[in-house]
Amino acid sequence: MALDGSIQSHRVRAYFSRIASRYDLANHLLSGGCDVLWRIAAAGKVQKWQPRTILDLATGSGDLARTLQRACPDALLVGADFCEPMLQVARDKNIPHLTVADALQLPFADGAFDTVTVAFGLRNMASWTHALSEIQRVLSPGGHLLILDFGLPTPPLLHLYRFYLHNVLPFLASLLTGERSAYDYLADSIESFPNADAMCGRLEAAGYQDAHYTPLLGGVTAIYTATRP
Ligand SMILES: C[S@@+](CC[C@H](N)C(=O)[O-])C[C@H]1O[C@@H](n2cnc3c(N)ncnc32)[C@H](O)[C@@H]1O
Repeated sequence: MALDGSIQSHRVRAYFSRIASRYDLANHLLSGGCDVLWRIAAAGKVQKWQPRTILDLATGSGDLARTLQRACPDALLVGADFCEPMLQVARDKNIPHLTVADALQLPFADGAFDTVTVAFGLRNMASWTHALSEIQRVLSPGGHLLILDFGLPTPPLLHLYRFYLHNVLPFLASLLTGERSAYDYLADSIESFPNADAMCGRLEAAGYQDAHYTPLLGGVTAIYTATRP
C-alpha cells in the first residue's frame, strides 16, 4: 500500500479505537435512530438473495452483522474489521465468527462468500478501487455485494444537512464521545465520497454487473448493490 494509504489506514484505525465504546450510542443518537432502520433495509435486500455465506466487511461494532443474523439465520456469517476495539464491542453482542482483517488484503480464499456487505466502511478505506477488487476476489461468481453508506441529499435538504454535518454533528459527537476530530473526519469523508452515478460507475469499472442505487432519507444514506459476473 502507498504511504498515503498507510497513513489513512492508521488514522482511521486510531479514530475508531478511540470512539469504539461510545460508537453505537453516538450512532443511534446522532441519526435519531435512523441507523437501525437503514441496517434493517440493507438486511432485507440481502435476505432476498438467500445467502449461504456472508462476509460483513468493516463490521465494526457488529450492528449490521447482528441484523443480518436475524434476517438470514441459516447463513454462515463472518464479520471482519481491522480495528480490534470495535470488534470487541461486536464480540460482546455474541456474534460468533469475527476476525481482525484489512479489507485491502483479506485472509479468505477466492470465491469464499456468496454475499459481501459493507456498511459505512468503504468510505473509510484507503483505496476504494483496491477494496472493490479484493471484495470481488472473495465473492463467488454470481455473488452479491451490498454497500450501505452516507451520501449527500439534493437541495434544499442539502444546505440544512451540510450545516448539521459540519457544525451540529461534530459538536454533539464530541460531547458524547469526547472525540471531535473523528466526526470532523466523518463530515469530510462524506463530502469526498462518490455520488450515486460515480459510485455505480466505479462498481462497473471494477468489473461488477447490475450496479443499483437506492437512496434512503432523501439521499442522506444509500444502498448500492452489484453482482460479480
Ligand atoms: C463507521 S464504522 C462501521 C461499522 C459497522 N459496519 C456499522 O454499520 O456500524 C467503519 C468501520 O470500518 C472499519 N474499517 C475501515 N477501513 C478498514 C479496512 N481497510 N479494513 C477493515 N476494516 C476497516 C473501521 O475499523 C470501522 O470499524
